[in-house]
Parts: sequence; structure tokens; C-alpha cells
Amino acid sequence: MTKNKKLLQWVDEIAKMTQPDKIHWCDGSEEENNMLIKGYVDTGVFTPILKRPNSYWVVSDPKDVARVEDRTFICSEKEIDAGPTNHWMAPKEMKKILTGLYTGCMKGRTMYVIPFSMGPLGSNISHIGIEITDSPYVVINMRIMTRMGQKVLDVLGDGEFVPCLHSVGYPLADGKKDVAWPCNDEKYICHFPEERSIWSYGSGYGGNALLGKKCFALRIASVLARDGGWLAEHMLILGITPPNGEKKYIAAAFPSACGKTNLAMLTPSIPGWKVETVGDDIAWMKFGQDGRLYAINPEAGFFGVAPGTSMKTNANAMLSCESNSIFTNVAFTDDGDVWWEGMTDEKPKHLIDWNKKDWTPESGRPSSHPNSRFTAPARQCPVIDPKWEDPKGVPISAFLFGGRRATFTPLINEAYDWNHGVYMGSACASETTAAAAGAVGTLRHDPFAMLPFCGYHMGDYFGHWIQIGKMSTADKLPKIFFVNWFRKNDKGKFIWPGYGDNIRALKWVIERVNGTGKFVETPIGRLPAEGALDIEGLDISPEDLKKLFSIEKESGLAEVAEMREYYKKFGDRLPKELGVELDKIEARLKK
Ligand code: OXD
Ligand code: MN
Repeated sequence: MTKNKKLLQWVDEIAKMTQPDKIHWCDGSEEENNMLIKGYVDTGVFTPILKRPNSYWVVSDPKDVARVEDRTFICSEKEIDAGPTNHWMAPKEMKKILTGLYTGCMKGRTMYVIPFSMGPLGSNISHIGIEITDSPYVVINMRIMTRMGQKVLDVLGDGEFVPCLHSVGYPLADGKKDVAWPCNDEKYICHFPEERSIWSYGSGYGGNALLGKKCFALRIASVLARDGGWLAEHMLILGITPPNGEKKYIAAAFPSACGKTNLAMLTPSIPGWKVETVGDDIAWMKFGQDGRLYAINPEAGFFGVAPGTSMKTNANAMLSCESNSIFTNVAFTDDGDVWWEGMTDEKPKHLIDWNKKDWTPESGRPSSHPNSRFTAPARQCPVIDPKWEDPKGVPISAFLFGGRRATFTPLINEAYDWNHGVYMGSACASETTAAAAGAVGTLRHDPFAMLPFCGYHMGDYFGHWIQIGKMSTADKLPKIFFVNWFRKNDKGKFIWPGYGDNIRALKWVIERVNGTGKFVETPIGRLPAEGALDIEGLDISPEDLKKLFSIEKESGLAEVAEMREYYKKFGDRLPKELGVELDKIEARLKK
């Protein structure tokens, strides 16, 4: 329990508004977890997965399957502070709407109070949040994704916490019966950056409901980081040990569908190299006394996209979810396991799909939702880094930015200096694939892979990155690189094999960090010199290899023009340093 006055008062205030039948303070114990799971199993919401101990299959309402970016709001006092990339509403106006929706919204339900720590308990990089929710599914998942329970209240004492309010928006007033996946057609995912609070209403799914993740660890934390001189980023963190044993850590930001979880858990294709995972989605970084940036993974679990994950593409992810995991919106096999598209080459002959309908390979539809997920404890990852819970964090030697680009952008490219690297982060973008709405090949800008996750004006966020570069010296700051695993040849085929072979690009990164990697200077950055990229044993034609690193002047100038246009969006909040970088690139291309 707690004596934290502010917390007790807040819980009381929310209970008065939401009017639950009961209040349950989560202690995080096994007994509590078993009790919640039993409730779901007894009502048929969870199905135990025989093949995976202590693991369960659940499907959501078909209308509640993903983050709802168009219903996500940054409610800063001033509209301009939310910036051009966020939806905004005045806090007073939004609170009025939400208070209306929240009044009586937990009737007939239990209100759970979840104390959670983002980051190892007691680390000076960690922060505490309290989520109030009426969803046991959220409690069960938060227990995997965060450190949660009484131990967090013990560390909190009378300290500060981020209040995170969540309701599925499905009150059980006047004897109304519950449904398997309660939610509401009206959804609001709201952030109040000045007050540092979150109100989420109407969805029970993933990032909309597990408020420690995108809402706190990115949107609110990005504001805390701006004010506190640190970084809260949408980045994986991994450790690389070369054959000489000199381990280094790197962090990487890619837009969605660029293989972040796969890179975080990569199995190297070249002998003698080892990759270990600190985190697969979010990194919080603060300067140490030595002037270096130290990173923690604020999460304790993986909320990974299931389709496409297999023993071939990511064995470590597969092994992470062999037990103690929750599977949402995948399919269920006749022999009591889960399955999703891409898990095995051969499709099962019969499944129960994510809509709980019979499915066969002839059904002509996927068995699992494309955004179906596994929630798995990070500690179960076979290559989890020994320091993944080190409260000091791990020192970061390099940042990687990337995107999905069929043309122009080379496999790997090193920034000349910090500001050039900030430019690279701001230029993250992906070409839309045939699977996404809109024209194929259209560029979707996703600066720093933070487009839906930055809690303030993106122009100010770029400025914050420029400032971070002034807080230390070039030898201590991470080196910055841009990577693109998705370049195609003239026949429209991916040139680079990706997956385990991405270690070859990481090897050059490590060599550059050590100052040994050979490079050539180009208008857009430093590229590996001929022979500097280890391609031994790789089946790649000389023409394709050339293409992987070719920089066509015209495409480069078109890219500069496109970025100049894009930057206009940020008006006078665009740091002038980025305009300077663009001028420099243009001048180098024209030389
Ligand atoms: C995620 C995302 O779920 O980035 O991690 O969308
Ligand atoms: Mn993510």
C-alpha cells in the first residue's frame, strides 16, 4: 500500500468520477495474476495454449486492433506547441469531453490501480507511472511489459508519478452484460504535456491501453526529456561483441515495418560476432558523468508483431514467447498452439482464425490480423543482454536511423558530424508499399521514427537533438549512421539479404566507431570504401554491390528539394542548423 497523498487523492477523485464497484490495488503477485487469468479462462475470453506453459490466446473486437493515430491528441495549452504533426485540442475543452465520457464509465466493473516503473526500479533514468484501468487484460499485459506492483509503491514513497487513466468505455450499468472484448466506438488517446498526464478512453488494445509504452515512454517522456536534457526515443538498443571481445552498444530508430525487433535480436551471419538485446522498441538516454549517453530500455517485455516472425526470421523472438506470453489476434491450431502467417512455410490445414471462425488455406484471407501481437517477458529472450537491467544503463557508441527506400539511399552512410546526423534523423522516411493505402512509392516522412510519438512540436524536437549535441564532445557522442536494407536493383528485387547479414553493416559501424573502418567521402556522407564492407560468403553480384552504394546526383538533388519542401511545415521552429545541413549537402552534390 502507499501513503503517497497525491496518489491516494487522485485514486479517490477518479473513483468518484468513474464509479466502479470495487477498487483493486495491484501488488504484482503471481496469485493476483493467476486470479485475473482464471477470470478470463472461466468466461472463455482467454484460451490456454497447451504447447506454451502459462500462455493464453485472446482475440479483440474486430474494430479495436491497432493504435488509433487519428484519435491521438497532444493537449498542450497552446496549439502551436503540439506542432504540425500532432492532433491538438485545448486541455480544458478536452477534459470537459473526457469527464463526460468518464463519468460512471466503470460502473459494474473493478477499477485496478497499477503502479509501474518504466526502467529498472530505482535507476536514475527510470520514471514511475500509475495506471488506473478497468481492464484486467491491461493489468496482465502491464505485468509483462513493465515492472509493476507493490515494489514500485515502495520505491515511489511520496515521490512524483505520471497519472495514466484508462477505461475501455463500456460500463455495466443496470445489469448490462459484459462482452468478451469491451471497448467503445468513441476513442480518445490524450496527453496533457504540461500536467504530464494521460487519459485514454474507448480502446483495450496495445499502445492505446498499455499506457506505459507509447503514451508515457515516448509522448510524455519526450517532453520530460526535452526539459531535462535527455532523450526518450523510439529506438531499439543492442550490444555487439566482435571477435576481439570489445563490446559496444548501439541504438536504432526505424519507422514501422522496417524490422526493428528483428535487428534487435539478430543472429549474425558472420562467425565470431555476437549480438545481444537490451530493448526492441524504446530507449531512454541520459548523459553520464563521463559525457557519454547511457541508455536503458524502459520496458520489461516485448509487444511484438506476430505475422512474419518465424524461426528463420527471428528465432530469438520465437523462443522469447514459448511460455508466460499472451497472444492477441493470432490464430489457434487444432493441436492447441497459436499460428500466424509466416510462422511456418507450410500452412496448417485448419485453424480457428482471429475472428474465431474456421479457417483453411483455401479461405482466401489471413488467419491472423496483420497487427496481431505477442506479449512476452524480455528476460525470456535467449540473447537478452546481461546488462539489460543495469540501472546505470549501457553506453551508446552509435545511432542508426533508417527507412524503407527502394532507390537512392545507400545501404549505410555515416554522418560527417552531429548536426549532419540530426539531419539524417529528421529525414527518416519510408516508401509506402502495395500493402499500405495510398500510391506505391509515395514517401511517408517519419522523422526519427517519432512521427506518431513526439509529445510536442517536431521542430522543437529537432532543436532538442541539436542541443544534445552541444552537451558533450564529438569523441563522447554517439556516431550517427543512416541505413537502408531495402534498396532494389533494376529488376525490382531487393539487393541486400537483410536479417542476419545486417551484421555486415553493423561491423562497419563498429569499425568506424573504433576509427579503423575505411571510408570514402561522398556528398551525402561517409560510405564504406571499396572492400571495407565484409561481404565474404555473400552471394551478391558486383553490379548489385555497386548499386547498393551508388549516389546519383539528380536523385540527390531531388531529395534535397523534397526535404526543403518538407521542412516548411515546421515554420520558424525548424532549427536553422538543419537548413545549413541541407545547403551543405546540396553544395556537395553540385560540386
Ligand atoms: C509499435 C509501433 O507497436 O511502433 O511498436 O507501432
Ligand atoms: Mn514501436
